[in-house]
Amino acid sequence: MDFKDQLKSSVDIVNVIGEYVRLKKSGTQRYMGLCPFHNEKTPSFTVHVARQFYKCFSCGEGGDVFSFVQKIEGISFYEALQTLAERHGIPMPKRSLAADEETKVRDAVFQMHEIALEHFRAGLRAPAGEAARDYLARRGVAQPAVDRFALGYSDRSGRALLRLLEQRGFSPAQIEQSGLVRKREDGSFYDYFRNRLMFPIHGESGKPIGFGGRALTPDDNPKYLNSPETPIYIKSNVLYNLHRAKEPIRKQDRVILVEGYMDALGVSSAGFEFVVASCGTSLTEAQIKALKRHSVNIAVNFDPDAPGASAAERSINLLLQEGMAVRMVELDGGLDPDEYCKQRGAEAYGERVRNAKGYFYWLADRARARHDVHTTEGIVAVLKFLMPAVERISDRLERMAVANDLAEYIGVDRGTVLDSFRKAAADRKEARLERPKEIIRADERGLLNVLLSDAPGREALLRDLSKIEILNRLSTRRLFEALMAAHAGGAPVTFDAVSARLEAQDQNLLAEVALSEDAEAHEITEEYGRQCLESLLRSGERNRRTDIKTRIREAERGGDMAEAVRLARELEAMERGPGRNK
Ligand code: UTP
Ligand code: MN
Repeated sequence: MDFKDQLKSSVDIVNVIGEYVRLKKSGTQRYMGLCPFHNEKTPSFTVHVARQFYKCFSCGEGGDVFSFVQKIEGISFYEALQTLAERHGIPMPKRSLAADEETKVRDAVFQMHEIALEHFRAGLRAPAGEAARDYLARRGVAQPAVDRFALGYSDRSGRALLRLLEQRGFSPAQIEQSGLVRKREDGSFYDYFRNRLMFPIHGESGKPIGFGGRALTPDDNPKYLNSPETPIYIKSNVLYNLHRAKEPIRKQDRVILVEGYMDALGVSSAGFEFVVASCGTSLTEAQIKALKRHSVNIAVNFDPDAPGASAAERSINLLLQEGMAVRMVELDGGLDPDEYCKQRGAEAYGERVRNAKGYFYWLADRARARHDVHTTEGIVAVLKFLMPAVERISDRLERMAVANDLAEYIGVDRGTVLDSFRKAAADRKEARLERPKEIIRADERGLLNVLLSDAPGREALLRDLSKIEILNRLSTRRLFEALMAAHAGGAPVTFDAVSARLEAQDQNLLAEVALSEDAEAHEITEEYGRQCLESLLRSGERNRRTDIKTRIREAERGGDMAEAVRLARELEAMERGPGRNK
């Protein structure tokens, strides 16, 4: 067994995927959840315990635990292996897998960030960190929060971290790529962060991948200096605090979205640990997808100022598009979330979060404040403003309900609102091409599952397969063919062996069969297989009878009585025949 197999057998795919996706048990061998790889409202993402693979029946994404971690974290196979090994405390054999150049660089940059984080923490405790400690004290950040958020301080020297990285043996090329230093004209380096309070930014798996550095005085600009993008830090994919918040988000089944590092820190410290921050950049699809894996319920709590409100407005549409249920937290007194928690207390903040209004009312309020709804032009302008948000409500009934509420809220009649909804709907090109779902019969599925199992007696069933005449009418015919081919080849007929003989589309079908409910509802025995086989034979005959009946009717309609009589006889013979069961 190579290292990959060894690792695979010692990690549980349900646990690993469960860290990224809310999974619900749905049968003895299956878990289901919302697919993290595409946008959906009802779960079609399935994880199979015994077979240790995952599969989305909607978008087709599927694979084993390594491909999952690779895909969700956007990392290479080698890194997925490394991540899983680390997380499970299994030592990686040094020479087992040669990493490619890119992976080596990323690996070095990860290590440098670990080192930098500890270096900054030590800096905050050191004598030179006094001003930063005072700053934190002034802002009411206590030691537990400092520890929990791994806050640090980068000193004024401009070379302390650089020296440390050099000492640890990183090459200039590696150091340059880390984003932790800057290059002078003459090619020498200096520390990127100087005299700043350091907020480490972590990836979802909990590794530090970047930093935000806050100025300690108002005259130091910018207020926040952020790491540049590096091979391990792609800003549009990252949300501040997600790795700490994800468990609480799932438990609470909701998330609070704030704008700033300090807001996330303050809100979390007030006891609302299910908070993440967008870090001043506008929210991206990738960030929303990352949140949605943990909960679809989001309470947006941006700053109360104008830029905050515009950012919130922009975010709403994107959030809706991704299928999130959006509420808006409103804080009075012009306070931002951090200030609110500190000045009014956790209880008051919790109250605001609980009373967060539906995004629609929030938008309508903004629209009402801008336009006069007593005039026709005003109403038209309000509706026009709200339409993008309405259009993104994918559920028709929900759209209707919103129309009603809205009519009442802005004081116009329902007809006017519905009219404008209809116009918008007509304009919208609903080019939703859904792959027609192939129907797999229960007996087909049952038989396939028996044949794929190691039930005794399936050999005999395999031999009898050729008898099933309707095989070529089944959507699973190519699966049966692959099974027979594998069997004829003399190799053991395993799931993998059959899968290897199939095209991608049929591999999906095979996975679907293996994951189906009734693969669990029935005991996989030869007897069950036999029943399924017989049921297929019977329906083959029924099909033939139906066929003949159709042809009789056609012959009668076409006036060909001779043919009709001949077919009727054939039908009679069939119904008297040995295959008769009912
Ligand atoms: P804020 O100015 O609201 O910062 O910007 P804050 O987190 O509340 O910090 P305090 O309370 O003033 O100390 C919100 C976020 O925008 C990004 C940061 O991520 C910040 O947390 N930002 C802001 C920058 O990246 N650069 C800046 O110069 C300012
Ligand atoms: Mn603030």
